[in-house]
Amino acid sequence: MCGIVGYTGGSQAAPILLEGLARLEYRGYDSAGIAINNGEKIDVVKAMGRLAVLCDKCGNGRDVPGNIGIGHTRWATHGRPSDVNSHPHVSENGRIAIVHNGIIENYAQLKEMLINRGRVFKSETDTEVAAQLIDYYYNGNILEAVARAVRELEGSYALGIICADEPDTIVGVKSHAPLIVAYGEDGNFFASDVMAVLNYTKTVSYLDDDEIAVVRSDGIKFYSPFLDEIKKEKYVVDWDIKAADKCGYEHYMFKEIMEQPEAVRRTIEPYIRDGRADLSDVLDREYIKNVSRIFIVACGSSYHVGVIAKYNIEKLARIPVEVVLASEFRYCDPIIDKNTLVICISQSGETADTLEAQNEAKRLGAVTLAIVNVEGSAIAKGADKVIYTKAGPEIAVATTKAYSTQLAVTVLIALYAAECRNSLSEDEYGIILKELLAVPEKMMKILNDKANIQYLAYQHFNNEDLFFIGRNIDYALSLEGSLKLKEISYIHSEAYAAGELKHGTISLVVDDTLVIAVASYGRLVDKTLSNALEVKARGARVMGITTESLKEKVAKATDEIITIPDTHEVLLPSLAVLPLQLFAYYVALYRGCDIDKPRNLAKSVTVE
Ligand code: F6R
Repeated sequence: MCGIVGYTGGSQAAPILLEGLARLEYRGYDSAGIAINNGEKIDVVKAMGRLAVLCDKCGNGRDVPGNIGIGHTRWATHGRPSDVNSHPHVSENGRIAIVHNGIIENYAQLKEMLINRGRVFKSETDTEVAAQLIDYYYNGNILEAVARAVRELEGSYALGIICADEPDTIVGVKSHAPLIVAYGEDGNFFASDVMAVLNYTKTVSYLDDDEIAVVRSDGIKFYSPFLDEIKKEKYVVDWDIKAADKCGYEHYMFKEIMEQPEAVRRTIEPYIRDGRADLSDVLDREYIKNVSRIFIVACGSSYHVGVIAKYNIEKLARIPVEVVLASEFRYCDPIIDKNTLVICISQSGETADTLEAQNEAKRLGAVTLAIVNVEGSAIAKGADKVIYTKAGPEIAVATTKAYSTQLAVTVLIALYAAECRNSLSEDEYGIILKELLAVPEKMMKILNDKANIQYLAYQHFNNEDLFFIGRNIDYALSLEGSLKLKEISYIHSEAYAAGELKHGTISLVVDDTLVIAVASYGRLVDKTLSNALEVKARGARVMGITTESLKEKVAKATDEIITIPDTHEVLLPSLAVLPLQLFAYYVALYRGCDIDKPRNLAKSVTVE
């Protein structure tokens, strides 16, 4: 969602802000803008559409000189995308400019109060209300004005504020939206995430809710909401700017698909000790023995990881697992006690629904474990225990490598819990662990054989409707295959438990409807193939995804086939997801879609 960045230092601010905004493009946006304080007044340039439009409008930053400024990419919530609704917003007198990520829920009341006091508004946004409110309280000290104004704001916000009268100060403040500050050699920064500043520095501090940062060229100070000065830790992030570049690939998504073997290897390695999956640093063995129930809570693809994990944890560790969409969990009155483990899965660590679900779980007395990719993110900081996936920066909006690393972590959890609870034979434990360690190599094999998948994508990219079917873990994986395809290619698709299709939806199957049957799970392959034959009998074209050892059987019931290497059943989705990701990618490519930035989507969904 919205990205924000600010800089003050010895260099011209505008080019640095534009570069920072380019690094934040992946979050999703529909307009962008910058505000520069040139020592006398604040100049604002903003434009609807891609960042390139803004760059053209301000001569790539040359037309707005000044050493301090703020920038923003907007993902519209209040007011349609337009030049006037874009950020930064300024107070009526032009003295205060702000950028904002989040939603100010009580903006209508505040606006009415300000209108009654003679203020005139230009935009439909909640953000302009915050700019006017800060100006309303401004009495010669921007820090005090911000502290006073935010006391009245309800909702979520990360704000960056500059004031024409204080030309070396940016104030940052947040509540339920991400904000970091960063320490550069030639100035200091604030941003919604580290990607914006990674080209300049890796040293950051993470703001907590209601804390205020005063960023100046010579240092950064932190304050409590009551303006007592506080100390914050500095962290050095272990991401490399190179990892955030395309490195010659046409799309981030393709690069990230190709990075999966290494990402999975990096993620599992720290937890394999003496030939065991050892999570004892994170989850106490005695605690796991006594866990009575697990909830897995997440959104989108992270939720799909949870659906697979349910099958695997229940199978190996015999703990009942419930998987709940984070947006539902918050309001479903879950039954929780101290023996309930709530696992929240999130790439960004900032997804508002997942964060609030985690808070709710803690409030109800559960132990919370976060599986998160972004260090220092709100979900990571708020959880009782954290396991970091080591996917590195994921820029493409559609997740691939984060999904695979999350999945690998859930297999580690299943194995570790099975060992703690003595629910798995030593032989099977050994096979699964060996196969888990072999996943990166087997992924490489699938990636090397991608030409067949590209060919099939070319055959089918004109389809407008299709189905994914499977049973058990193959069904769980179908959910992800379907989401990947629709989000980047805009083709309508649905994932169905193979046995369920004939209870209604099969009426949509007509001549040449494409049905992708994920049939990798040996125990249920015959049943899935019967369902494939049912749709074939109604004219469908069926593409099967299966293992080397099942391919002959599957080929007889399907029209086309993609194979993956054999592995233990709990690891089949870790391999079978690759053809689904590649299929979606190539289909979107042939359809000419904006693969890395699909329409309407945001990478980090920081509002409810
Ligand atoms: C789909 C996708 C989304 C995310 C979802 C949760 O490709 O990326 O469905 O999985 O928005 O995001 P995180 O994992 O950051 O909480």
